[in-house]
Amino acid sequence: MMVKKFLTLTAVAGGLVWLSASGAMAQNEIEGRQKLMKGFSAATKEVKAAVEKKDYATVAVKVKDIADSLDMAAFAKNWPHNSTDAKSRAKPEVWQKWNDFMLTAWDGQQRALSLVDAAKSKNDAKVAEAYKAFGPVCVDCHKSFRAEATK
Ligand code: HEC
Repeated sequence: MMVKKFLTLTAVAGGLVWLSASGAMAQNEIEGRQKLMKGFSAATKEVKAAVEKKDYATVAVKVKDIADSLDMAAFAKNWPHNSTDAKSRAKPEVWQKWNDFMLTAWDGQQRALSLVDAAKSKNDAKVAEAYKAFGPVCVDCHKSFRAEATK
């Protein structure tokens, strides 16, 4: 029933209309999401080290935080309509393909949650598999929705 589930999600994503925001508010959102992403970076490094050490309790906690931040309703709030500035690398596609953007976040959340479950199971093979599936989450979204660095 994947197709049905996907269609339902598309409807949900479409319903999460971006906030329209004043310039000043968008500034906060841009800085807020950049801070969030930097936190993701730090967390993924900690997760990598924890997976290597088989410190699965740490894996579960750190990855659950990422999953919570990628929750569609929470994540959507970071991206007021067309909020960009000189420092933002968000592509216009974020808003032009809003449903895809939301579904990419959703997919990332599901992979994160699978990794949390695997970590809780403390089963090495399950963790390895879920960690591998989680791996491309960041890059996949950046490829479509984040512009190349200009310098
Ligand atoms: C659903 C899409 C999406 C996902 C998933 C995602 N990112 Fe991002 N990320 C973006 C976008 C878009 C930007 C550009 C934001 C801006 O500059 O306004 C960005 C920016 C960044 C930045 C630069 C922040 C700065 O200081 O300007 C880092 C670092 C980053 N992401 C890390 C990650 C990591 C690590 C993950 C995975 C755990 C991740 N991102 C997951 C979309 C995503």
